[in-house]
Amino acid sequence: MSFPAERPRRLRRFERLRALVRETRVTPEHLIYPLFVAPGEGLRREIPSLPGCFHLSVDQAAREAREVESLGIAGVLLFGLPSAKDPVGSEGYAEDGVVQKAARAIRAACRELLVITDVCLCEYTSHGHCGVVADGEVKNDPTLELLARMAVSHARAGAHVVAPSDMMDGRVGAIRKGLDAAGLTDTPILSYAAKYASAFYGPFREAADSAPQFGDRRGYQMDPANVREALREVRLDVEEGADIVMVKPALPYLDVIRAVKEAFDRPVAAYNVSGEYAMVKAAAARGWVDEERIVKETLTSIRRAGADVILTYHAKDFVRWS
Ligand code: PBG
Repeated sequence: MSFPAERPRRLRRFERLRALVRETRVTPEHLIYPLFVAPGEGLRREIPSLPGCFHLSVDQAAREAREVESLGIAGVLLFGLPSAKDPVGSEGYAEDGVVQKAARAIRAACRELLVITDVCLCEYTSHGHCGVVADGEVKNDPTLELLARMAVSHARAGAHVVAPSDMMDGRVGAIRKGLDAAGLTDTPILSYAAKYASAFYGPFREAADSAPQFGDRRGYQMDPANVREALREVRLDVEEGADIVMVKPALPYLDVIRAVKEAFDRPVAAYNVSGEYAMVKAAAARGWVDEERIVKETLTSIRRAGADVILTYHAKDFVRWS
């Protein structure tokens, strides 16, 4: 059958019809909203590189979390800005670290909101790398124990899910082992499985004060040119016990999301990262793009590519617009 019998425009004539045959939907329950928790009290300071997002003290983070919950958003992803940094990122796994405190406060303030914590050393280390440094190099194996300690301390503080973003080899297995040994067998791991060495993290590094003080992250994060390697990374994480696997960034890697979705029977998450957000905000502020339509189209494309879960700074705006 072809024209004139076939007329695809018939199903596009008005919104009821379009909605009836729409293949992809984005709803608040697919979304996770990142929060940046900082020391202090009563702190709510807008992040210059991420307009509309804030550095929040623990009390303010709990308030923000209640608002996020009231919008029906599935959960928050917690990042921490410690009061002091050292070469081994001690505050990252301290009982009274800022993320641990925020997890407790948010769990106490919210009934259903999922608390997910980013497990990585870079915000807590003086050199800004995601692992332990020796001889000018980021050392893989000595980092694993610290990451496992961090994950356990997050889960003990109330994190529902832990999300390692460091890209050390073997960290998912080490974290699973650590959690299980602590009796936390029911805490899922959302692994940043295919995480690329991306320029799109720029605004985040300013927000989290986590830029490496020497070199870059190309020795552990993935080469943007590779998709077969992404499948290998995901396979290793799944074998080590990842419950949800993430591709990051999202928009420049929609093909990777699709490939991971087709190759594995695990839920797939995608991180619509800080640079993706900042570009939209900057263009919208100049009146160059329609922010609402750009965001809806962007999140729809990430879902259409195969993401079950989207981590995005647009989450609150998106829900308010829908
Ligand atoms: C920490 C981490 C980063 C992001 C999430 N976790 C930065 C990095 O790897 O340099 C980026 C998030 C974003 O850009 O929104 N390792």
